[in-house]
Amino acid sequence: MATGKKIGILTSGGDCAGLNAVIRAVTRCAIEIYGWEVHGICKATHGLMTRPPESKRLSIKQVDPYLTMGGTFLGTTNKGDPFAFPMSDGSLRDRSEEIIEGYHQLGLDALIGIGGDGSLAILRKLAQQGGINLVGIPKTIDNDVGITERSIGFDTAVNIATEAIDRLHFTAASHSRVMIVEVMGRDAGHIALNAGIAGGADVILIPEIAYSLENICRHIKQRQAHGYDYSIVIVSEAVCTEAGALLEQGHFADCRLGGVGQYLAESITSLSGAETRVTVLGHTQRGGISSPLDRILASAFGVAAVELIANEQYDQMVTWQERSVKAVPIAEAIRDYRTVEPEGTLVKTARGLGICLGDRIISRTEHEQLSEALGANRPATVPA
Ligand code: F6P
Repeated sequence: MATGKKIGILTSGGDCAGLNAVIRAVTRCAIEIYGWEVHGICKATHGLMTRPPESKRLSIKQVDPYLTMGGTFLGTTNKGDPFAFPMSDGSLRDRSEEIIEGYHQLGLDALIGIGGDGSLAILRKLAQQGGINLVGIPKTIDNDVGITERSIGFDTAVNIATEAIDRLHFTAASHSRVMIVEVMGRDAGHIALNAGIAGGADVILIPEIAYSLENICRHIKQRQAHGYDYSIVIVSEAVCTEAGALLEQGHFADCRLGGVGQYLAESITSLSGAETRVTVLGHTQRGGISSPLDRILASAFGVAAVELIANEQYDQMVTWQERSVKAVPIAEAIRDYRTVEPEGTLVKTARGLGICLGDRIISRTEHEQLSEALGANRPATVPA
């Protein structure tokens, strides 16, 4: 039965552009098409732990102006696993039953959870334990949620990183510098790879492909020899030092990645003599006005999530696959973590454009000469 439902919606994990567009799509479809009540839950599951539960009834008039706005007007958090929630006295407490009780106190028939793989795993566990009718929507600038080709927020992040590279070309050329751009993405190099190709970077470094400083410097020198006395390097935050150390900002309980841009700048200067500068894009990649593509994806996901509830198909996540929205069981959707495929199309594209990925790629001629000299032992990778 699709009539008379009361549904909740919450955003969980790190914010990104497009979240407000999903809340708007859900609200519009649920009210306009089905005549349901929609309740926005504040600050992810924290709103359900609060007494009375912290939520607001949403109207179309209220959500419409948020279509383009970054962030989430419901608030969110990427801290505090409810199954081991950090209390003020330093202890950890299982607060899952409070959240489940909060959901039932609101009298909700279903809940739409918008999150990355971590948040969706937690929401699913709560749903299984407490009889919550859950539908998931994937969001993350990292674009690493297993089964979906796209998650909300990724496109905007790529646009922001690309625009930064576009701007840096001019200043890099004016000063004959190597400009290093550090982007987010955690263990997945999707932002760096996509923005690097779109922005015309000369070197793209991602966690999935090991690099050597020597190869990077050789590429920079080769560019200089061809009359380009500047270079743009884009690097993903989880790329390690050449010795394999993961760089973190400060000393916090949670792992906050950052610093590899500065490490590369110092290393490249000392190895090649090039003048370097670093731009760390950080949280700018999550904010601002969401891209049209993210708004379209958010709208499609929002409407599809409401349709799932109308058909009482729960424990499902909406995904983008082969040009359309498909629903898959949440457990299946988040089973695989999706990093960049080192032999995938975009890596091949970057190589085909002559972009250095830090690993040893040599020209066909050089390869043939070396192969001849070394017999059967292939010296290094050759572009496909
Ligand atoms: O997962 C999204 C993300 O933006 C990562 O790319 C980044 O490493 C992390 O969140 C930053 O988290 P926080 O907002 O806690 O600094």
